[in-house]
Amino acid sequence: MSKLNETDVQGFVIRGYNFPFARYLFLEVTDHQKVRRFIDNLLPYITTGEHWDDGKPQSTVNIAFTHKGLALMQLPDASLLSFPVEFLQGMKARADILGDSGPNGPENWDEIWREERVHIWLAVNALSPAALEDACATIQQLLNTHGGAGIVGQQDAAALQIDGKFCTKEHFGYTDGFGNPDYLGLERHSQPGQGKLNKDGSWSPLATGELLLGYADEAGELPVAPLPHLLANNGTFMVYRKLHQNVATFRNYLEEKGKAYPGGKEKLASKFVGRWRDGTPTELSPDKEDSSIATDPSRNVNFTFGKDSDGTKCPIGAHLRRVNPRDAFGFNGRLTNRRRVTRRGLPYGPYAPEGQPITDNIERGVAFMALNASLSRQFEFVQQQWIEYGNDSHQGNDKDLILGNHGSHANGSKFVIQGTDDPKNPPFVCGGLTNFVELRGGDYFFIPSMTALKMLSTGTVDPR
Ligand code: HEM
Repeated sequence: MSKLNETDVQGFVIRGYNFPFARYLFLEVTDHQKVRRFIDNLLPYITTGEHWDDGKPQSTVNIAFTHKGLALMQLPDASLLSFPVEFLQGMKARADILGDSGPNGPENWDEIWREERVHIWLAVNALSPAALEDACATIQQLLNTHGGAGIVGQQDAAALQIDGKFCTKEHFGYTDGFGNPDYLGLERHSQPGQGKLNKDGSWSPLATGELLLGYADEAGELPVAPLPHLLANNGTFMVYRKLHQNVATFRNYLEEKGKAYPGGKEKLASKFVGRWRDGTPTELSPDKEDSSIATDPSRNVNFTFGKDSDGTKCPIGAHLRRVNPRDAFGFNGRLTNRRRVTRRGLPYGPYAPEGQPITDNIERGVAFMALNASLSRQFEFVQQQWIEYGNDSHQGNDKDLILGNHGSHANGSKFVIQGTDDPKNPPFVCGGLTNFVELRGGDYFFIPSMTALKMLSTGTVDPR
Protein backbone atom coordinates (compact mmCIF):
# COMPACT_ATOMS: atom_id res chain seq x y z
CA MET A 1 0.00 0.00 0.00
CA SER A 2 1.25 3.46 -0.82
CA LYS A 3 1.85 5.97 1.92
CA LEU A 4 -1.16 7.85 3.21
CA ASN A 5 -1.63 11.55 2.81
CA GLU A 6 -0.43 12.27 6.32
CA THR A 7 -0.97 15.99 5.98
CA ASP A 8 -4.71 15.35 5.78
CA VAL A 9 -4.84 13.30 9.01
CA GLN A 10 -4.63 15.03 12.39
CA GLY A 11 -1.24 14.36 13.96
CA PHE A 12 -2.78 13.10 17.23
CA VAL A 13 -4.25 10.18 15.30
CA ILE A 14 -1.02 9.11 13.65
CA ARG A 15 1.46 9.48 16.46
CA GLY A 16 1.72 9.59 20.22
CA TYR A 17 3.47 12.95 20.65
CA ASN A 18 5.19 11.93 23.90
CA PHE A 19 5.10 15.50 25.16
CA PRO A 20 5.17 15.89 28.95
CA PHE A 21 2.30 18.41 29.23
CA ALA A 22 -1.25 18.46 27.93
CA ARG A 23 -4.44 20.40 28.40
CA TYR A 24 -7.76 19.18 27.09
CA LEU A 25 -10.19 22.05 26.60
CA PHE A 26 -13.91 21.26 26.60
CA LEU A 27 -16.07 23.64 24.58
CA GLU A 28 -19.79 24.20 24.44
CA VAL A 29 -21.16 25.42 21.10
CA THR A 30 -23.48 28.43 21.29
CA ASP A 31 -23.71 29.74 17.72
CA HIS A 32 -23.15 27.66 14.59
CA GLN A 33 -22.04 30.45 12.29
CA LYS A 34 -19.60 31.96 14.73
CA VAL A 35 -18.16 28.63 15.75
CA ARG A 36 -17.51 27.81 12.09
CA ARG A 37 -15.51 31.02 11.78
CA PHE A 38 -13.64 30.13 14.96
CA ILE A 39 -12.73 26.74 13.50
CA ASP A 40 -11.75 28.25 10.17
CA ASN A 41 -9.32 30.57 11.94
CA LEU A 42 -8.03 27.75 14.12
CA LEU A 43 -7.17 25.58 11.09
CA PRO A 44 -3.60 26.93 10.61
CA TYR A 45 -2.82 25.90 14.20
CA ILE A 46 -4.07 22.32 13.92
CA THR A 47 -1.23 19.81 13.95
CA THR A 48 -1.33 17.36 11.06
CA GLY A 49 0.47 14.06 10.62
CA GLU A 50 3.15 15.77 8.55
CA HIS A 51 6.66 14.57 9.31
CA TRP A 52 8.62 16.83 11.68
CA ASP A 53 11.80 17.33 9.67
CA ASP A 54 13.04 20.02 12.06
CA GLY A 55 12.25 18.14 15.25
CA LYS A 56 9.28 18.48 17.54
CA PRO A 57 7.34 21.74 17.65
CA GLN A 58 6.87 23.47 21.02
CA SER A 59 3.23 22.50 21.09
CA THR A 60 0.46 20.85 19.11
CA VAL A 61 -3.28 21.51 18.74
CA ASN A 62 -5.95 18.99 17.77
CA ILE A 63 -9.73 19.03 17.62
CA ALA A 64 -12.64 16.61 17.82
CA PHE A 65 -16.45 16.80 18.05
CA THR A 66 -19.24 14.98 19.82
CA HIS A 67 -22.32 14.15 17.78
CA LYS A 68 -24.22 16.85 19.65
CA GLY A 69 -21.45 19.27 18.70
CA LEU A 70 -21.84 18.40 15.01
CA ALA A 71 -25.60 18.79 15.32
CA LEU A 72 -25.17 22.23 16.91
CA MET A 73 -22.91 23.17 14.01
CA GLN A 74 -25.93 22.38 11.84
CA LEU A 75 -24.58 19.56 9.74
CA PRO A 76 -27.31 18.36 7.36
CA ASP A 77 -29.59 15.75 8.95
CA ALA A 78 -28.65 13.16 6.35
CA SER A 79 -25.01 13.42 7.47
CA LEU A 80 -25.85 13.44 11.16
CA LEU A 81 -27.98 10.32 10.79
CA SER A 82 -25.33 8.48 8.80
CA PHE A 83 -22.93 8.25 11.76
CA PRO A 84 -22.70 4.90 13.58
CA VAL A 85 -25.40 4.64 16.22
CA GLU A 86 -23.03 4.38 19.20
CA PHE A 87 -21.43 7.72 18.27
CA LEU A 88 -24.84 9.24 17.69
CA GLN A 89 -25.93 8.17 21.18
CA GLY A 90 -22.74 9.19 22.99
CA MET A 91 -20.93 7.44 25.83
CA LYS A 92 -23.42 8.28 28.57
CA ALA A 93 -26.25 6.52 26.75
CA ARG A 94 -24.01 3.47 26.32
CA ALA A 95 -23.42 3.11 30.08
CA ASP A 96 -25.28 -0.22 30.33
CA ILE A 97 -23.26 -1.71 27.50
CA LEU A 98 -19.99 -0.48 28.99
CA GLY A 99 -20.72 -1.57 32.56
CA ASP A 100 -20.58 2.08 33.69
CA SER A 101 -22.85 1.74 36.70
CA GLY A 102 -22.61 2.32 40.46
CA PRO A 103 -19.46 4.29 41.26
CA ASN A 104 -18.74 4.47 37.50
CA GLY A 105 -22.29 5.48 36.59
CA PRO A 106 -23.09 8.79 34.84
CA GLU A 107 -24.85 10.04 38.00
CA ASN A 108 -21.41 10.12 39.64
CA TRP A 109 -19.55 11.82 36.77
CA ASP A 110 -18.20 15.35 36.83
CA GLU A 111 -20.93 17.82 36.01
CA ILE A 112 -19.85 18.78 32.48
CA TRP A 113 -19.96 15.14 31.39
CA ARG A 114 -23.15 14.38 33.28
CA GLU A 115 -24.90 17.22 31.52
CA GLU A 116 -23.34 16.45 28.12
CA ARG A 117 -22.16 20.02 27.76
CA VAL A 118 -18.95 19.13 25.94
CA HIS A 119 -19.33 19.54 22.20
CA ILE A 120 -15.77 20.16 21.11
CA TRP A 121 -12.55 18.70 22.48
CA LEU A 122 -9.37 20.66 21.90
CA ALA A 123 -6.10 19.03 22.87
CA VAL A 124 -2.96 21.03 23.42
CA ASN A 125 0.20 19.00 23.96
CA ALA A 126 3.39 20.86 24.82
CA LEU A 127 7.06 20.52 25.62
CA SER A 128 6.92 23.05 28.46
CA PRO A 129 4.33 24.77 30.67
CA ALA A 130 5.12 28.07 28.93
CA ALA A 131 4.46 26.59 25.48
CA LEU A 132 1.21 25.10 26.81
CA GLU A 133 0.03 28.46 28.13
CA ASP A 134 1.03 30.19 24.86
CA ALA A 135 -1.01 27.81 22.73
CA CYS A 136 -4.01 28.02 25.08
CA ALA A 137 -3.81 31.81 25.04
CA THR A 138 -3.93 31.76 21.23
CA ILE A 139 -7.02 29.56 21.32
CA GLN A 140 -8.67 31.81 23.91
CA GLN A 141 -7.89 34.83 21.76
CA LEU A 142 -9.56 33.21 18.75
CA LEU A 143 -12.58 32.36 20.88
CA ASN A 144 -12.78 35.93 22.13
CA THR A 145 -12.62 37.24 18.57
CA HIS A 146 -15.06 34.89 16.89
CA GLY A 147 -17.23 33.55 19.72
CA GLY A 148 -19.64 30.75 18.93
CA ALA A 149 -18.28 28.50 21.66
CA GLY A 150 -17.06 28.80 25.23
CA ILE A 151 -14.76 26.75 27.41
CA VAL A 152 -16.88 24.91 30.01
CA GLY A 153 -14.10 22.84 31.47
CA GLN A 154 -10.54 21.68 31.06
CA GLN A 155 -8.34 18.79 32.09
CA ASP A 156 -4.66 19.32 32.68
CA ALA A 157 -2.48 16.24 32.39
CA ALA A 158 1.25 15.66 32.58
CA ALA A 159 3.83 12.92 32.60
CA LEU A 160 4.58 11.95 36.21
CA GLN A 161 7.70 13.35 37.76
CA ILE A 162 9.49 10.94 40.05
CA ASP A 163 12.63 12.14 41.81
CA GLY A 164 12.47 15.28 39.68
CA LYS A 165 12.50 13.38 36.36
CA PHE A 166 9.68 12.90 33.87
CA CYS A 167 8.86 9.27 33.30
CA THR A 168 6.29 7.11 31.55
CA LYS A 169 4.87 5.65 34.74
CA GLU A 170 1.21 5.86 35.71
CA HIS A 171 -0.02 6.35 39.28
CA PHE A 172 -0.02 2.67 40.28
CA GLY A 173 3.70 2.62 39.53
CA TYR A 174 3.76 0.70 36.24
CA THR A 175 5.69 1.86 33.22
CA ASP A 176 3.07 2.51 30.55
CA GLY A 177 2.78 3.19 26.86
CA PHE A 178 4.53 0.20 25.23
CA GLY A 179 1.83 -1.39 23.17
CA ASN A 180 0.10 0.40 20.31
CA PRO A 181 -0.64 -1.20 16.95
CA ASP A 182 1.15 -0.41 13.72
CA TYR A 183 -1.04 0.34 10.69
CA LEU A 184 -0.35 -0.05 6.98
CA GLY A 185 0.79 3.15 5.31
CA LEU A 186 1.68 4.99 8.52
CA GLU A 187 5.27 6.03 8.91
CA ARG A 188 6.27 4.32 12.19
CA HIS A 189 8.74 1.52 11.80
CA SER A 190 7.03 -1.74 12.44
CA GLN A 191 8.14 -3.20 15.73
CA PRO A 192 7.84 -6.95 16.29
CA GLY A 193 4.76 -7.45 18.48
CA GLN A 194 2.97 -4.22 17.57
CA GLY A 195 0.81 -5.20 14.62
CA LYS A 196 -0.70 -8.53 13.69
CA LEU A 197 0.86 -11.93 13.97
CA ASN A 198 1.67 -13.81 10.78
CA LYS A 199 1.62 -17.58 10.44
CA ASP A 200 5.42 -17.75 10.41
CA GLY A 201 5.62 -15.89 13.75
CA SER A 202 6.61 -12.56 12.20
CA TRP A 203 4.49 -9.41 12.62
CA SER A 204 3.05 -6.97 10.12
CA PRO A 205 1.02 -3.76 10.39
CA LEU A 206 -2.76 -3.95 10.83
CA ALA A 207 -5.03 -2.85 7.99
CA THR A 208 -5.36 0.97 7.94
CA GLY A 209 -9.13 0.67 8.20
CA GLU A 210 -8.81 -0.54 11.79
CA LEU A 211 -7.86 3.07 12.62
CA LEU A 212 -8.88 5.38 9.78
CA LEU A 213 -12.19 5.71 7.98
CA GLY A 214 -12.09 5.29 4.22
CA TYR A 215 -9.66 2.35 4.10
CA ALA A 216 -10.15 -1.40 4.13
CA ASP A 217 -10.11 -3.01 7.59
CA GLU A 218 -8.95 -6.49 8.58
CA ALA A 219 -12.11 -7.98 7.02
CA GLY A 220 -11.33 -6.22 3.74
CA GLU A 221 -14.33 -3.95 4.27
CA LEU A 222 -14.68 -0.19 4.64
CA PRO A 223 -15.61 0.75 8.21
CA VAL A 224 -19.09 2.18 8.76
CA ALA A 225 -18.65 5.91 8.18
CA PRO A 226 -20.71 9.07 7.81
CA LEU A 227 -21.70 10.69 4.53
CA PRO A 228 -20.30 12.20 2.42
CA HIS A 229 -17.11 10.15 2.15
CA LEU A 230 -15.04 13.33 2.13
CA LEU A 231 -16.31 14.07 5.63
CA ALA A 232 -15.30 10.62 6.85
CA ASN A 233 -12.07 9.80 5.02
CA ASN A 234 -8.88 10.10 7.07
CA GLY A 235 -10.96 10.64 10.20
CA THR A 236 -11.44 8.36 13.19
CA PHE A 237 -13.45 7.98 16.40
CA MET A 238 -12.11 8.64 19.87
CA VAL A 239 -13.21 7.55 23.32
CA TYR A 240 -12.32 10.02 26.07
CA ARG A 241 -12.53 8.65 29.64
CA LYS A 242 -11.45 10.42 32.76
CA LEU A 243 -10.27 7.50 34.89
CA HIS A 244 -9.73 8.30 38.54
CA GLN A 245 -7.23 6.04 40.32
CA ASN A 246 -7.77 5.04 43.95
CA VAL A 247 -4.05 4.83 44.61
CA ALA A 248 -4.33 4.39 48.39
CA THR A 249 -6.75 1.49 48.00
CA PHE A 250 -4.57 -0.11 45.33
CA ARG A 251 -1.41 0.16 47.40
CA ASN A 252 -3.09 -1.20 50.53
CA TYR A 253 -4.56 -4.12 48.61
CA LEU A 254 -1.24 -4.98 46.99
CA GLU A 255 0.57 -4.69 50.33
CA GLU A 256 -1.87 -6.96 52.09
CA LYS A 257 -2.13 -9.65 49.39
CA GLY A 258 1.60 -9.39 48.72
CA LYS A 259 2.26 -10.67 52.23
CA ALA A 260 0.30 -13.83 51.49
CA TYR A 261 1.59 -14.43 47.96
CA PRO A 262 4.71 -16.60 48.01
CA GLY A 263 6.32 -14.62 45.17
CA GLY A 264 6.02 -11.39 47.18
CA LYS A 265 4.48 -8.01 46.47
CA GLU A 266 6.34 -7.03 43.30
CA LYS A 267 5.71 -10.35 41.61
CA LEU A 268 2.05 -10.07 42.53
CA ALA A 269 1.95 -6.57 41.02
CA SER A 270 3.44 -7.99 37.82
CA LYS A 271 0.68 -10.62 37.66
CA PHE A 272 -2.07 -7.98 37.85
CA VAL A 273 -0.92 -6.33 34.63
CA GLY A 274 1.28 -8.87 32.83
CA ARG A 275 4.26 -6.56 33.16
CA TRP A 276 6.63 -5.91 36.04
CA ARG A 277 6.57 -2.31 37.15
CA ASP A 278 9.62 -1.51 34.99
CA GLY A 279 7.71 -2.87 31.98
CA THR A 280 9.30 -6.32 31.67
CA PRO A 281 6.60 -8.61 30.23
CA THR A 282 5.91 -11.52 32.61
CA GLU A 283 5.49 -13.69 29.53
CA LEU A 284 9.21 -13.26 28.77
CA SER A 285 10.49 -13.08 32.33
CA PRO A 286 7.99 -14.51 34.80
CA ASP A 287 10.19 -14.47 37.91
CA LYS A 288 12.05 -11.19 37.84
CA GLU A 289 12.32 -7.75 36.30
CA ASP A 290 14.80 -7.65 33.45
CA SER A 291 15.63 -4.14 32.30
CA SER A 292 17.49 -5.48 29.27
CA ILE A 293 14.11 -6.71 27.96
CA ALA A 294 12.05 -3.76 29.21
CA THR A 295 14.22 -1.24 27.36
CA ASP A 296 14.68 -3.24 24.16
CA PRO A 297 12.05 -2.25 21.54
CA SER A 298 12.65 -5.45 19.61
CA ARG A 299 11.62 -7.51 22.66
CA ASN A 300 9.43 -5.48 25.02
CA VAL A 301 6.23 -5.98 23.01
CA ASN A 302 7.38 -9.06 21.13
CA PHE A 303 5.59 -11.95 22.81
CA THR A 304 2.59 -14.22 22.37
CA PHE A 305 0.40 -16.25 24.72
CA GLY A 306 -0.23 -19.30 22.53
CA LYS A 307 2.35 -21.41 24.36
CA ASP A 308 1.17 -20.13 27.77
CA SER A 309 -2.41 -21.32 27.48
CA ASP A 310 -2.38 -22.22 31.20
CA GLY A 311 -1.43 -18.67 32.14
CA THR A 312 1.51 -19.75 34.27
CA LYS A 313 3.67 -16.88 33.03
CA CYS A 314 1.08 -14.23 32.28
CA PRO A 315 -2.23 -14.88 34.06
CA ILE A 316 -5.12 -15.33 31.67
CA GLY A 317 -6.93 -12.43 33.39
CA ALA A 318 -3.96 -10.03 33.54
CA HIS A 319 -4.75 -6.55 32.21
CA LEU A 320 -2.61 -6.62 29.08
CA ARG A 321 -3.65 -10.16 28.17
CA ARG A 322 -7.31 -9.23 28.47
CA VAL A 323 -7.10 -6.08 26.38
CA ASN A 324 -4.80 -7.57 23.73
CA PRO A 325 -4.98 -11.37 23.91
CA ARG A 326 -2.74 -11.69 20.83
CA ASP A 327 -2.91 -15.38 19.82
CA ALA A 328 -4.47 -16.60 23.10
CA PHE A 329 -7.79 -17.45 21.41
CA GLY A 330 -6.19 -19.38 18.55
CA PHE A 331 -6.58 -18.66 14.83
CA ASN A 332 -3.18 -17.04 14.98
CA GLY A 333 -4.62 -13.96 16.65
CA ARG A 334 -7.09 -13.14 13.89
CA LEU A 335 -9.95 -12.60 16.36
CA THR A 336 -7.84 -10.10 18.25
CA ASN A 337 -6.89 -8.13 15.13
CA ARG A 338 -10.46 -6.81 14.93
CA ARG A 339 -10.42 -5.53 18.53
CA ARG A 340 -7.35 -3.36 18.71
CA VAL A 341 -7.40 0.23 19.88
CA THR A 342 -4.74 2.91 19.77
CA ARG A 343 -4.15 4.50 23.16
CA ARG A 344 -3.38 8.12 23.84
CA GLY A 345 -3.40 10.27 26.96
CA LEU A 346 -1.44 11.17 30.06
CA PRO A 347 -1.81 10.93 33.82
CA TYR A 348 -3.33 13.81 35.75
CA GLY A 349 -2.74 14.78 39.36
CA PRO A 350 0.45 14.66 41.40
CA TYR A 351 2.46 11.47 41.84
CA ALA A 352 2.35 10.17 45.41
CA PRO A 353 5.76 8.83 46.40
CA GLU A 354 5.71 5.27 47.79
CA GLY A 355 5.75 5.01 51.55
CA GLN A 356 4.03 8.33 52.22
CA PRO A 357 0.50 8.59 53.63
CA ILE A 358 -2.07 9.17 50.88
CA THR A 359 -5.81 9.13 50.38
CA ASP A 360 -7.97 8.19 47.40
CA ASN A 361 -9.63 11.58 47.35
CA ILE A 362 -6.92 13.56 45.59
CA GLU A 363 -7.70 14.21 41.87
CA ARG A 364 -5.40 11.63 40.35
CA GLY A 365 -5.78 9.31 37.38
CA VAL A 366 -5.43 8.94 33.63
CA ALA A 367 -6.96 11.11 30.93
CA PHE A 368 -7.49 8.02 28.77
CA MET A 369 -8.18 8.16 25.07
CA ALA A 370 -8.62 5.32 22.61
CA LEU A 371 -8.79 5.72 18.84
CA ASN A 372 -10.50 3.26 16.55
CA ALA A 373 -12.45 3.09 13.32
CA SER A 374 -15.41 1.43 15.05
CA LEU A 375 -16.31 2.37 18.61
CA SER A 376 -18.69 -0.57 18.91
CA ARG A 377 -16.53 -3.27 17.36
CA GLN A 378 -13.29 -2.17 18.98
CA PHE A 379 -13.43 -0.11 22.21
CA GLU A 380 -16.92 -1.12 23.34
CA PHE A 381 -16.26 -4.80 22.72
CA VAL A 382 -12.99 -4.72 24.67
CA GLN A 383 -14.61 -2.80 27.53
CA GLN A 384 -17.71 -4.99 27.71
CA GLN A 385 -16.37 -8.45 26.99
CA TRP A 386 -12.73 -8.43 28.01
CA ILE A 387 -12.56 -5.85 30.81
CA GLU A 388 -15.97 -6.22 32.47
CA TYR A 389 -16.50 -9.91 31.72
CA GLY A 390 -14.26 -12.96 31.51
CA ASN A 391 -16.06 -15.53 29.42
CA ASP A 392 -13.86 -15.40 26.31
CA SER A 393 -10.84 -16.20 28.44
CA HIS A 394 -12.68 -18.81 30.56
CA GLN A 395 -12.62 -16.47 33.57
CA GLY A 396 -16.40 -16.57 34.10
CA ASN A 397 -17.69 -13.30 35.53
CA ASP A 398 -14.27 -12.14 36.67
CA LYS A 399 -13.31 -8.66 35.52
CA ASP A 400 -10.00 -6.98 34.83
CA LEU A 401 -8.49 -6.47 38.30
CA ILE A 402 -7.17 -2.99 37.48
CA LEU A 403 -10.14 -1.58 35.58
CA GLY A 404 -13.12 -3.71 36.54
CA ASN A 405 -16.22 -2.13 38.04
CA HIS A 406 -16.08 -4.64 40.88
CA GLY A 407 -18.79 -2.99 42.97
CA SER A 408 -19.51 -4.41 46.37
CA HIS A 409 -17.49 -7.35 47.68
CA ALA A 410 -20.67 -9.37 47.90
CA ASN A 411 -20.54 -10.27 44.20
CA GLY A 412 -17.38 -12.29 44.80
CA SER A 413 -15.25 -10.47 42.26
CA LYS A 414 -11.84 -12.09 42.13
CA PHE A 415 -8.67 -12.43 40.08
CA VAL A 416 -7.09 -15.84 39.60
CA ILE A 417 -3.36 -16.25 39.12
CA GLN A 418 -2.67 -19.55 37.45
CA GLY A 419 0.38 -21.35 38.87
CA THR A 420 2.46 -24.49 38.74
CA ASP A 421 3.52 -27.21 41.22
CA ASP A 422 6.57 -25.09 42.02
CA PRO A 423 6.05 -23.65 45.54
CA LYS A 424 7.59 -20.40 44.27
CA ASN A 425 4.88 -20.11 41.62
CA PRO A 426 1.66 -21.41 43.16
CA PRO A 427 -1.88 -20.72 41.98
CA PHE A 428 -3.31 -17.81 43.95
CA VAL A 429 -6.71 -16.16 44.19
CA CYS A 430 -7.07 -12.44 44.86
CA GLY A 431 -10.57 -11.97 46.28
CA GLY A 432 -12.44 -9.02 47.76
CA LEU A 433 -11.76 -6.76 44.80
CA THR A 434 -12.94 -3.21 44.95
CA ASN A 435 -12.75 -0.43 42.34
CA PHE A 436 -9.15 0.63 41.92
CA VAL A 437 -10.18 2.81 38.96
CA GLU A 438 -13.36 4.86 38.70
CA LEU A 439 -14.87 6.62 35.72
CA ARG A 440 -15.49 10.35 36.20
CA GLY A 441 -16.90 11.11 32.76
CA GLY A 442 -16.09 11.35 29.10
CA ASP A 443 -17.70 10.94 25.71
CA TYR A 444 -17.31 9.71 22.15
CA PHE A 445 -15.71 12.07 19.65
CA PHE A 446 -15.14 12.23 15.90
CA ILE A 447 -11.67 13.41 14.88
CA PRO A 448 -12.09 14.74 11.33
CA SER A 449 -9.43 15.03 8.67
CA MET A 450 -8.13 18.45 7.64
CA THR A 451 -10.35 18.31 4.53
CA ALA A 452 -13.38 17.56 6.68
CA LEU A 453 -12.51 20.38 9.08
CA LYS A 454 -12.49 22.80 6.16
CA MET A 455 -15.91 21.50 5.11
CA LEU A 456 -17.23 21.91 8.65
CA SER A 457 -15.85 25.41 8.99
CA THR A 458 -17.29 26.57 5.68
CA GLY A 459 -20.64 24.83 6.14
CA THR A 460 -20.17 22.84 2.93
CA VAL A 461 -20.90 19.31 4.16
CA ASP A 462 -23.18 17.91 1.49
CA PRO A 463 -24.29 14.31 2.00
CA ARG A 464 -25.73 13.91 -1.50
C1 HEM B 1 -6.30 3.89 34.92
C2 HEM B 1 -6.50 3.10 33.91
C3 HEM B 1 -5.47 2.20 33.30
C4 HEM B 1 -4.26 1.80 33.77
C5 HEM B 1 -3.61 2.14 35.11
C6 HEM B 1 -3.66 0.97 32.75
C7 HEM B 1 -2.41 0.38 32.85
C8 HEM B 1 -1.78 -0.28 31.82
C9 HEM B 1 -0.43 -0.75 31.85
C10 HEM B 1 0.52 -0.60 33.04
C11 HEM B 1 -0.19 -1.35 30.67
C12 HEM B 1 1.12 -2.03 30.25
C13 HEM B 1 1.98 -1.10 29.47
C14 HEM B 1 1.85 -1.27 27.97
O1 HEM B 1 1.77 -2.40 27.50
O2 HEM B 1 1.84 -0.25 27.27
C15 HEM B 1 -1.38 -1.25 29.86
C16 HEM B 1 -1.52 -1.73 28.57
C17 HEM B 1 -2.67 -1.62 27.83
N1 HEM B 1 -3.88 -1.12 28.24
FE1 HEM B 1 -4.25 -0.23 30.01
N2 HEM B 1 -4.53 0.85 31.70
C18 HEM B 1 -5.65 1.59 31.99
C19 HEM B 1 -6.77 1.75 31.22
C20 HEM B 1 -7.00 1.07 30.03
C21 HEM B 1 -8.26 1.09 29.32
C22 HEM B 1 -9.55 1.81 29.73
C23 HEM B 1 -8.09 0.34 28.22
C24 HEM B 1 -9.20 0.10 27.22
C25 HEM B 1 -9.22 -0.43 26.14
C26 HEM B 1 -6.70 -0.12 28.21
C27 HEM B 1 -6.08 -0.84 27.21
C28 HEM B 1 -4.77 -1.19 27.20
C29 HEM B 1 -4.09 -1.77 26.03
C30 HEM B 1 -4.71 -2.04 24.67
C31 HEM B 1 -2.78 -2.04 26.43
C32 HEM B 1 -1.67 -2.64 25.57
C33 HEM B 1 -1.72 -4.13 25.61
C34 HEM B 1 -0.75 -4.73 24.62
O3 HEM B 1 -0.78 -4.35 23.45
O4 HEM B 1 0.01 -5.60 25.03
N3 HEM B 1 -6.09 0.31 29.35
N4 HEM B 1 -2.35 -0.60 30.59
